[in-house]
Amino acid sequence: MLLHLDASARRHASFSRKLSSVYAETWRAAHPDARYVYRDLAAHPVPHIGEAWTELCDHILEHEITDISRYREAARTPAQQAAWAVVEPLLDEVVAADVILIGTPMYNYSIPSTLKAWLDQITFPKMSLEGRSFVVTSARGGAYGPGTPREPYDHQERYLRDFFKGHFRVEDVTFIHAELVNARLDPALAHLREQHEQSLAAALKEAAQ
Ligand SMILES: Cc1cc2nc3c(=O)[nH]c(=O)nc-3n(C[C@H](O)[C@H](O)[C@H](O)COP(=O)(O)O)c2cc1C
Repeated sequence: MLLHLDASARRHASFSRKLSSVYAETWRAAHPDARYVYRDLAAHPVPHIGEAWTELCDHILEHEITDISRYREAARTPAQQAAWAVVEPLLDEVVAADVILIGTPMYNYSIPSTLKAWLDQITFPKMSLEGRSFVVTSARGGAYGPGTPREPYDHQERYLRDFFKGHFRVEDVTFIHAELVNARLDPALAHLREQHEQSLAAALKEAAQ
């Protein structure tokens, strides 16, 4: 199964959405019988975690529950059951997926809060999503590749890579970036427009493969 998420606040002129849709089309053509689930985290944001969620998390940690199918045991009070009712469908989708595809912009050197809210909801202590792979299609206004002055400011790829490894034990992660998107708009970056076009073309090609 392919779980496809998008997080850009832009609905139509979004490059991270364009890239994720190209990837999804190719994947679905190659796996015509596989399930496909789509979730738009910007159009339908998941709520932030609340106190009852932290109680679920504490119970899971204290009772050393590492089997995801046992997490529901942690929901004892009505408030905890309501918190679990938010988590359960999100987690079911992730557990059922072979590939988790995330279309996300860089916002403020990192990820949109809508994507962070989703990660907060589905992540519990010492869990494992081993055997799955993540694909991240991203767009960013500037350039953050190796050797660029802004390379150390990339807390989007760095964060997600560390998160998937540290919390999910998944190292099968692919990033496809379209860079310098701001050169399309910012007159001061007009000289980088061609470099942006090349980055976008390469990203679209990679997503289609
Ligand atoms: C709220 C916001 C914050 C942004 N922060 C950054 C940033 O820190 N670095 C950067 O290179 N671009 C930044 N950008 C530019 C976006 O990464 C760029 O517009 C990208 O194309 C957005 O992805 P999308 O096309 O899928 O919407 C920001 C854009 C917005 C709207």
